[in-house]
Amino acid sequence: MKKIIIAIDGYSGCGKSTTAKIVAEKLNYVYIDSGAMYRAVTLYFLRHQIPLDDTEAVINALKRIDIRFEYNPHTHKSETYLNGESVEGEVRSMAISDKVSDVSKIHEVREALVMLQQRLGLQKGIVMDGRDIGTQVFPQAELKIFMEADIDIRAERRQAELLAKGEDLPLSDIIQNLQKRDLIDTQRSESPLRKADDAIELDSSNITIEEQTQYVIELAQKVIQEVNVMELV
Ligand code: DC
Repeated sequence: MKKIIIAIDGYSGCGKSTTAKIVAEKLNYVYIDSGAMYRAVTLYFLRHQIPLDDTEAVINALKRIDIRFEYNPHTHKSETYLNGESVEGEVRSMAISDKVSDVSKIHEVREALVMLQQRLGLQKGIVMDGRDIGTQVFPQAELKIFMEADIDIRAERRQAELLAKGEDLPLSDIIQNLQKRDLIDTQRSESPLRKADDAIELDSSNITIEEQTQYVIELAQKVIQEVNVMELV
């Protein structure tokens, strides 16, 4: 059975990763969280005080960064590893969310991570979520979804997520962070967040996680069937 690439792009906090994770699980595909890669690089840059405007320092730092995703049998989840250390919790913190859009604007960072993402996609059978997956990383992806949602709803969901991890923040701080990231992500010169022409729009404001994942799974099953019929012709 021929496998496909599913690209899920969209604004911060629309439920891209929740959807991507469940879709991957249902299809028996590999889920790759490209945002976690930008977050891991941000964490490394913060820890090592890499000046973002020093291209040489950025290039040298990137050479010292190894990012992997590994399954943790205790949590039954795939976790982000930075140079052998699980940083899954740390990369989701507000301190990282605050800086990640500035780091992901940097040309050299994008170049390195896009290459890594494309390598991970070589075997197909993947669901990757991010901002430029359908436009830059896999413009040939067989299924592209572009997710949006109301800012207040996105903020409430993000607040609940952070609270579950022990970080209690006022809604206004979260809205501010989302707005700032939306602005940087859509306005940056290098692969800004935008809907690919052939992406299917999905507004998750008023639907449940079950409904949004079911919608994507049905679309994916249809595309997989079409791709496999084409193979036989
Ligand atoms: O999906 P996320 O919120 O974890 O992503 C964190 C940041 O990383 C986001 O604000 C922009 C950046 N990012 C990017 O520029 N390109 C991607 N493919 C994924 C994320």
